[in-house]
Amino acid sequence: MALMGIPKNGSVRSLEAMAAIFEIDDSDFSRLLDKPKPLNIERNRSFEEKSFSDLSINLSPRPFYRNSENSSRIFDHLENTYSPCRRSSFNTPTSQSFEPHPMVSDAWDALRRSLVYFRGQPVGTIAALDQSGEELNYDQVFVRDFVPSALAFLMNGEPEIVKNFLLKTLRLQSWEKKVDNFKLGEGVMPASFKVLHDPVKNFETIVADFGECAIGRVAPIDSGFWWIILLRAYTKSTGDTSLAEMPECQKGMRLILSLCLSEGFDTFPTLLCADGCCMIDRRMGVYGYPIEIQALFFMALRCALFLLKQDNEGKEFVERIVKRLHALSFHMRNYFWLDLKQLNDIYRYKTEEYSHTAVNKFNVMPDSLPDWVFDFMPTRGGYFIGNVSPARMDFRWFCLGNCIAILSSMATPEQSSAIMDLIEERWEELVGEMPLKICYPAIESHEWRIVTGCDPKNTRWSYHNGGSWPVLLWLLTAACVKTGRPQIARRALDLAESRLLKDSWPEYYDGKLGRFTGKQSRKFQTWSIAGYLVAKMMLEDPSHLGMVALEEDKQKNILMKRSVSWNC
Ligand code: GLC
Repeated sequence: MALMGIPKNGSVRSLEAMAAIFEIDDSDFSRLLDKPKPLNIERNRSFEEKSFSDLSINLSPRPFYRNSENSSRIFDHLENTYSPCRRSSFNTPTSQSFEPHPMVSDAWDALRRSLVYFRGQPVGTIAALDQSGEELNYDQVFVRDFVPSALAFLMNGEPEIVKNFLLKTLRLQSWEKKVDNFKLGEGVMPASFKVLHDPVKNFETIVADFGECAIGRVAPIDSGFWWIILLRAYTKSTGDTSLAEMPECQKGMRLILSLCLSEGFDTFPTLLCADGCCMIDRRMGVYGYPIEIQALFFMALRCALFLLKQDNEGKEFVERIVKRLHALSFHMRNYFWLDLKQLNDIYRYKTEEYSHTAVNKFNVMPDSLPDWVFDFMPTRGGYFIGNVSPARMDFRWFCLGNCIAILSSMATPEQSSAIMDLIEERWEELVGEMPLKICYPAIESHEWRIVTGCDPKNTRWSYHNGGSWPVLLWLLTAACVKTGRPQIARRALDLAESRLLKDSWPEYYDGKLGRFTGKQSRKFQTWSIAGYLVAKMMLEDPSHLGMVALEEDKQKNILMKRSVSWNC
């Protein structure tokens, strides 16, 4: 099968343009709030900052830097920062220096088999290549599922498919979307799409699902966020700023942002969501202000800040984003954060407090603290809880939200380390025999009946209800690399390597320890395959991290009043 083309790159002009954009990326958005212009904000170039911003500029586009002196210097630097890692050999399969795990070539073969073509061009990967005949919608290209595939292709120097995907989904966004007689917001991105082939006319068309076909009829809020995040990853990885600069892409971004930055009755900066609007796409009590969406929202806003042009139309959005990010990080870092001290504070909360002086702002009843959380909370460690809304805190641990919080720097560096501490301390619960629990703990009995509506697919320790999802491995690995704890990822990868290929790349595993292939789990689930490859490549070459991670905005911290519990 022909490989996708190598990116165009290297012109002085594009590097200059890139440098300007990278300045925004690492800039201090709280200062931008005061002075939206100019873009080149002076920053303290700390050791860490250098590892991202310099990498972005010097190491992209990837296929061309490998042998340069400059790159090896940065590699040395990264190797010191992120502990010993060898260079990836994935770009150079003929390289003699490194023997890849035998699973890697199987994974690449399976990933390439999952490619979906539209009029001769690869535009995505199918959700699962399972031959069992129960396709449902697993024969479609899902936006969220394609992200790890896209990262794998980018890391391998094959950006063309990612570009095609971004452009194709952008075209789909402009469709008129309706559920019965109700028109959806213009900016909604599809959950998935499928290529249809008419054998008579020998013509291909695309059908897309924006939630109007999905089980539960919920629009995928995460799709638009992933689209923006992926556009930044593409730009960072290739150095090709021309895609993001296209008026169509700028408009697509603005449409997504209009949906989530509009003014309303909100009293919180978090985004109000329906159940099932993200990876957990069935009723699971993940509604209101779920961490899974808030963290993606934060990350997408930061990526948009990096990508948006400050022209007439973009400027207003930049200002709105900056304000929202400021409020959102304060809210999340203060009210969603739970560690031993915070737990003890909630345990002692008074209720029915009125006025600005209230400590228990959301009127959470200490009696609503579940028993398990007292055992689960280690002395060292903490995490962002699942949800915070009036008189309701969902104390469950969600993997994606916490990893994205680390990658986007929604978490402070102290919080990020605390999350990693928690994963280490609660390894058996969160990883067990197969990485990684989507959420913890499972809900059962009466609570399962009420919360899931008796969903037989989401029984305890299965699927979205405490099941173990190999795809989450790439997020864990990226979070580990960012926090300088690659040994945690390596341990998780070892577990995955002992089973994944043998079990034919299942979608998820069941059981308290993740020992059983999931009840209705698809085999050859593409994001399990791609997630493994991305984790593997990221560990081998930590410079890939820049594609999916954003640095801490240090200035903002000083401006914010910090909760003492972050510092312990
Ligand atoms: C399931 C998952 C969803 C995923 C889809 C395709 O519905 O819950 O997150 O996108 O399968 O793999």
